[in-house]
Amino acid sequence: MAQKIQIFDTTLRDGEQVPGCQLKTEEKIIIAKELELIGVDVIEAGFPISSPGDFLSVVEISKAVKEPVVCGLTRSKKDDIDVAAEALHHAKRGRIHTGIGSSDVHIKHKFKSSREQVLEQGVWAVKYAKSKGYEVEFFAEDAGRADLVFLAQLIEAVIAAGADVVNIPDTTGYCLPHLYGKRIQYLVENVKNIEKAVISVHCHNDLGLATANTLAGLTNGARQAEVTINGIGERAGNTSLEEVAMILQTHKDLGLYTDIKADRIYKLSNLVSGMMRMPVQANKAIVGKNAFAHSSGIHQDGFLKHAENYEIINPADVGVPSSSIVLTARSGRAALKHRAELLGYSYEGDDLNTLYENFLLVADEKKEVNDADLIMLATNLPILAK
Ligand code: KIV
Ligand code: ZN
Repeated sequence: MAQKIQIFDTTLRDGEQVPGCQLKTEEKIIIAKELELIGVDVIEAGFPISSPGDFLSVVEISKAVKEPVVCGLTRSKKDDIDVAAEALHHAKRGRIHTGIGSSDVHIKHKFKSSREQVLEQGVWAVKYAKSKGYEVEFFAEDAGRADLVFLAQLIEAVIAAGADVVNIPDTTGYCLPHLYGKRIQYLVENVKNIEKAVISVHCHNDLGLATANTLAGLTNGARQAEVTINGIGERAGNTSLEEVAMILQTHKDLGLYTDIKADRIYKLSNLVSGMMRMPVQANKAIVGKNAFAHSSGIHQDGFLKHAENYEIINPADVGVPSSSIVLTARSGRAALKHRAELLGYSYEGDDLNTLYENFLLVADEKKEVNDADLIMLATNLPILAK
């Protein structure tokens, strides 16, 4: 039977850390409600101790949503945990996400500490967070570069201390997919109490591998994926919600599914991009402007004969209104004829050839030929410069 993957959305925490993407509490509430409607399991609403605004956002999101777990980030510090516990007071189900660096580079150069002290502090933080009565997720920051034997000891100790979820972040986006997958497999096989917690994967995109690493983690036993809308997040970003959801929907053979209502993806992508003033790159998978646009003649001809020739996802499945055929100098007669017909002009044989020759002259000049240009061409009127 297919197994459920919990979707933990951190658009409002890791995503909102991006310079220029800061949101007001009212805007965060609008996004949180849309995250609830799309079916995420957990909303990481903020880092309550970081600022009064973040604290307020966690409070208000806790009141505003009912279904998803609401999560607040903390360091392994008493004050952080106290403040997060207070911020989550109204949550129907609240989660404290606490943790500490686990790689030697973080232990030595960030904490000036030792593995033993880090383990002790992590265990203390989990016990203290647990005493507040919430679910507790522990993050082993920079787990992607941590010594694997130490990571396994740390994870075993925090599960024994009461962690419900253990997050194994590839904080720096360093890992290769097969090696990240092996890390998760090692923890599954070597952490004695691993069945008492859910393994979570949180991958950054510094080498463009965030989604591939997330998938490797899931296929090796992780059951929660940490994601953001449009893949926004620190530096090169995080794994994107839309990619994980659509990979699992497209490859049902993996035996994994999410509760994401995919037809709400495009709307949410636009909402986040608009509110955060963070444009989506045109070739972004699933939600980019070109994700369902066909521009070369060979592709356009094949697409017009049968959409599945060049589309593995029906755009309507992710809420994109329609595929598009972009008319450029690389387009062929089939696409030109099709677009002219949509505008009410029918061309065949020599007439189509003439229209096509004129079209190519305009396309070479203008790069993209729009409907207004095409009407001018069809009616033999001069094309106005852009
Ligand atoms: O990338 C990371 O390690 C994080 C943690 C705080 C979970 O964002
Ligand atoms: Zn992160």
